[in-house]
Amino acid sequence: MKITKKIISEEQIQERIIQLATEINKDYEGKNLIILGVLKGAFIAISDLAKNLNIDVSFEFMSISSYEGSESTGQIKIEKDLDVDIAGKNILIVEDIFDTGLTISSLIDILGSRNPESIQTMCMFVKPIENKIPVEIKYKGFEIGSEFVVGYGLDYMGKYRELPYLAELS
Ligand code: IMP
Ligand code: MG
Repeated sequence: MKITKKIISEEQIQERIIQLATEINKDYEGKNLIILGVLKGAFIAISDLAKNLNIDVSFEFMSISSYEGSESTGQIKIEKDLDVDIAGKNILIVEDIFDTGLTISSLIDILGSRNPESIQTMCMFVKPIENKIPVEIKYKGFEIGSEFVVGYGLDYMGKYRELPYLAELS
């Protein structure tokens, strides 16, 4: 096992989750919302977010992969699609991390063709934005550096997702 160096603490993450949930509660007041989690990485952020929401919300998940090991493959693969119709619904895609933007931009294209009422995005961690596919991220957790990070849902070869903080492998 490699050693991990903490870069964002559990307390900082929990405080930010409450702020994001407060914004989402306000923005979707009186509307219904489907939170669409991108598996596997978003599972921890979504469960923490869920506990702080007080709107009409349901949760759906898709499984997508674009990474093998620690390098992007440049394409996404849908491992598990949605099993509900999203036509006329408000969708909030929740992703663990925004790196090249390939995952989120591909998902917006795929879901956009299914006639939802609206699509917005939340990314828990956002890497620096130079040379990225331009996507507007409505709810951003934290802007981080370009180093490879793990924890709070993020993995390296399937490991470290359970860490309650964000860490760098060293
Ligand atoms: P994108 O499509 O390049 O934006 O990459 C998004 C996906 O790449 C995320 O959902 C992660 O699975 C993975 N990823 C990107 N950067 C990291 C990282 O630093 N640690 C772990 N996974 C990462
Ligand atoms: Mg992932």
